[in-house]
Amino acid sequence: MKIFLDTSEVDVISKHCESGLIDGVTTNPTLMMQAGRDPIDVIKDISALFPDDSSISAEVVADTAEEMISQAKQYYSISSNITIKVPCTEEGLKACKFLSDKDIPVNVTLIFSTTQAILCAKAGAKYVSPFIGRCEDNGLSGIGLIESIRTIYDRSNIGHPPEILAASIRTTDHVTNAFIAGTDIVTLPPSILKEMYKHALTDQGIDQFDKDWKLVNHK
Ligand code: G3P
Repeated sequence: MKIFLDTSEVDVISKHCESGLIDGVTTNPTLMMQAGRDPIDVIKDISALFPDDSSISAEVVADTAEEMISQAKQYYSISSNITIKVPCTEEGLKACKFLSDKDIPVNVTLIFSTTQAILCAKAGAKYVSPFIGRCEDNGLSGIGLIESIRTIYDRSNIGHPPEILAASIRTTDHVTNAFIAGTDIVTLPPSILKEMYKHALTDQGIDQFDKDWKLVNHK
């Protein structure tokens, strides 16, 4: 069970890392645009916060596999904890196969079907990223998709199937249901991670215990 943060905000990541509960980070071009800095610098800064065996996804943006591979090499030269994120297209999977054969970990993103997930496994992907929220935006079951991918990977005889990395998470229920459906990892906007800590009854209980503790000390 792993939790990644889905953001390019280095300060926010650094703060959450203090908990010791974060196993990695995913970024994408939109998150990089929001960060407003050179993506290479952002990836360097995030990578430095994590140990070598973690995973920091850096997404390549190109039309051809050759261009994706060239960008991937630039990112991967930063650190061995970098994972290359490619889109689930023919060119993306060609790049995935090439990089995976060279033991460079690849996260195939924008997964909306089981057949895409099957091709990712064939291409040697380390991670597949089904987009739960965007499935639901389009009337598809994101959780159902994760369940089906889990079943296929468990029943097939692929030596090392990709890890399922549930993305486009919008609610804490998405987190729960993604794990029930068999995801290996969830990648969360920091706001959802913060919500996961909370429960009104916990706050209520703490208030009561604080009050009672003061009475104990006054005896
Ligand atoms: O990990 C992918 C994620 O950043 C997309 O989320 O909410 O834009 O669909 P969303």
